[in-house]
Amino acid sequence: GGIALNANAATGNASGSSAGSLVFDPDAYTELTTTVTDTEGTEHAVTYHFWKAITYVSKPVDATYQSLNVSVPVEIDGTAVDASNAPILLANSVGGYMPSSVADATGIGGASMGGGAPSGAPTASASASAPGANGNTNATGGAMNTNQLLALAAGYVVVEPGARGRGLKNSAGEYYGSAPAVIVDLKAAVRYVRSNKGRIPGNVDRIVSAGTSAGGAVSSLLGASGDSPIYEKHLKEIGAANASDAIFAVGAWCPITDLEHADGAYEWNWGTNALSTGKQVDQTVSKDLRSQFAEYQAKLRLRGLRGSGFGTLTARNYDEYLLKQYMEPSATTYLAALSDSDRETYLAKNTFLTWDGEKATFTWDGFLTHVGARKKTVPAFDAFDLSAGENNEFGSATTANRHFTAYGAKNDTTGLSTKRVESDIPELLNLMNPMYHLVEKVNGNRSRHWWIRLGTNDTDTSHVISANLAARAENLGDEVNHLYYWDEGHGANTDPGDFITWIAKVTG
Ligand code: DHB
Repeated sequence: GGIALNANAATGNASGSSAGSLVFDPDAYTELTTTVTDTEGTEHAVTYHFWKAITYVSKPVDATYQSLNVSVPVEIDGTAVDASNAPILLANSVGGYMPSSVADATGIGGASMGGGAPSGAPTASASASAPGANGNTNATGGAMNTNQLLALAAGYVVVEPGARGRGLKNSAGEYYGSAPAVIVDLKAAVRYVRSNKGRIPGNVDRIVSAGTSAGGAVSSLLGASGDSPIYEKHLKEIGAANASDAIFAVGAWCPITDLEHADGAYEWNWGTNALSTGKQVDQTVSKDLRSQFAEYQAKLRLRGLRGSGFGTLTARNYDEYLLKQYMEPSATTYLAALSDSDRETYLAKNTFLTWDGEKATFTWDGFLTHVGARKKTVPAFDAFDLSAGENNEFGSATTANRHFTAYGAKNDTTGLSTKRVESDIPELLNLMNPMYHLVEKVNGNRSRHWWIRLGTNDTDTSHVISANLAARAENLGDEVNHLYYWDEGHGANTDPGDFITWIAKVTG
């Protein structure tokens, strides 16, 4: 299913804002047209105003990334629309924790990776999901373009911020895009939008963030950390506008987050699955990490979602919880939508699964076997040899790749003499982790609405990561809409129309 984007500049002025000014110029747009094919296959002619490459901080480190684009629909299928009080979709295009830029976009959905190939051995998964204009709704870029286009055709304002990311290096040889740059930039973008209330179209109190993978992680972080004081000095440094950075709602697809606990969660989930080479990972390391997960999970004291029938979620019942709350319902939805003959074909091929005519049931082990190869080695995130993208994300100005867990540092194979994480790491972890703002601090200015999606075949991180985020938010009383897409992999977004409808519902 595709979204056709045919943008033609019709009229308009040069866009952008003068350096240093954080005042949005309502007149500095170009008028564009595009055709949006909705999820039913119906085409919609949309005329919109496009503001391009507005630098959103007064002291940019690199305006190529610290800029945003704004798209505002003015006519949909021949009818004038007024988006002056519409919800604002804040769609990031962060992938792999790498830099993302909208500066060269010629219309909505045109973000690209910038900065060239980041150093620090980006993972294959990260580069594979780099946003691109390939129109593939199963890639990070494609999935998010779909959200933006559908939002525009629904009459919403779409703001697309760029952000610094790992690997960026200045002429002095210093890295300037590693943690916490990405979240500081996105917060600065929110502050820019909110400080321009009344000038920028849309309701600045109804900002809904969206992102996929690393972009889903920072989307959920943006929602969890609204107005947290721990970002203040970083925001000041880049000249962020003086306004609230709290957002109304979060859309997060396959969020690669809670990074300092992700190695344990990964082994708990995929620890016995072989790599695609058929090789098993080091089971001693895997077991160490699994027991770390058990400890962490016990400390969280999360309860299963309402109606799940699960009390406290632990390493011992989490498989059953994922199975009953998410995996079986996901397969059930998938199978129910198939024709009888397609369902029969599927069931014949997938004998681990039982279909009683209404419901799919299977075992956790059957599910693990069905998913098959794990994508990552062990540890998945804090690699002993510093080769993971996340090692690069937690690099410093002068050190490309660093450990960010005690276990990773202790088992370092690169010659790290201290065998400990550096002293600034704990603070960086807090700055990057939505769970910090939901568990250690309970941030009263967090988003209260959470849309979370993940493919059941996605082994980029543990299924627990999304489920914990969802459970914590709901345990706190927030509204959570969390589903897994059956048999879908990393970056999937198979119900974008439902997301757009959800935005209308929660912001209405
Ligand atoms: C992404 C994927 C990963 O596997 C990861 O560790 C970090 C980010 C991504 O696609 O954005």
